[in-house]
Amino acid sequence: MSDLPRHVAIIMDGNGRWAQARKLERIEGHRAGAEAVRRITTRARERGIESLTLFAFSTENWQRPKDEVRGLWGLLVDFLKSELPTLIKNQIGLKLIGDPGPIPTLAQKQLNKVIKRTAGSTHMTLNLALNYGAKAELIHAFEQLKKYDQPIDETSVEEHLYTADQPPVDLLIRTGGEHRLSNFLLWQAAYAELYFVDTLWPDYSDDDFDRALSDFSQRERRFGRTSAQLIDEVAP
Ligand code: IPE
Ligand code: IPE
Ligand code: MG
Repeated sequence: MSDLPRHVAIIMDGNGRWAQARKLERIEGHRAGAEAVRRITTRARERGIESLTLFAFSTENWQRPKDEVRGLWGLLVDFLKSELPTLIKNQIGLKLIGDPGPIPTLAQKQLNKVIKRTAGSTHMTLNLALNYGAKAELIHAFEQLKKYDQPIDETSVEEHLYTADQPPVDLLIRTGGEHRLSNFLLWQAAYAELYFVDTLWPDYSDDDFDRALSDFSQRERRFGRTSAQLIDEVAP
């Protein structure tokens, strides 16, 4: 049996369909999604999660209609502005997971501000995956290792990932009914417990999150060994 996951990652999916079902513009789904981010961040911190990683914008999402892309970055700026005091109060440190280069300047500035102001927070790390793609992240890590002529092993690769110094993903949740990883944390989630729910992200509640934690606590994480070996290990 596993206890509490140290690192939870979430593929927040279903905003567009949530809006469509209400005959609203897709951006309204993303706006409602931002509320869910507030909710789940608060609950994760209350439960004592060390790292929460939220997939907010993928390297593939640039292919969406221009209006939607612009709207998403605008919502991010609003979100960061309104959340800063709460993050500081709750001792939550913000980190960016992804290549900041192509991110619009205003969003970059706001991100840097919040990252700086929340650095050294002790209660939880909130990783926002923005312009994130696992393949790009791994290529970047390998390139760095090659450039400095370093050996390629698990430790050296991990040191060059955006999540360096954070525990591997224990629990990976995807809302919105799809059963795929969409190029998210391919290395860090190599041994994660996967949890898929049909609930669309804007409807995802703190009780839903608790249910995922409780499901995780029932999983037997064997890491290649047998059940009997695990039982022997905990026996006196
Ligand atoms: C997830 O919701 C948010 C982002 C990818 C930015 P979607 O926008 O993918 O919602 P659906 O999948 O179209 O319903
Ligand atoms: C994955 O969702 C990316 C984010 C949640 C930010 P998508 O909705 O973009 O994924 P696909 O296209 O269905 O795989
Ligand atoms: Mg989607």
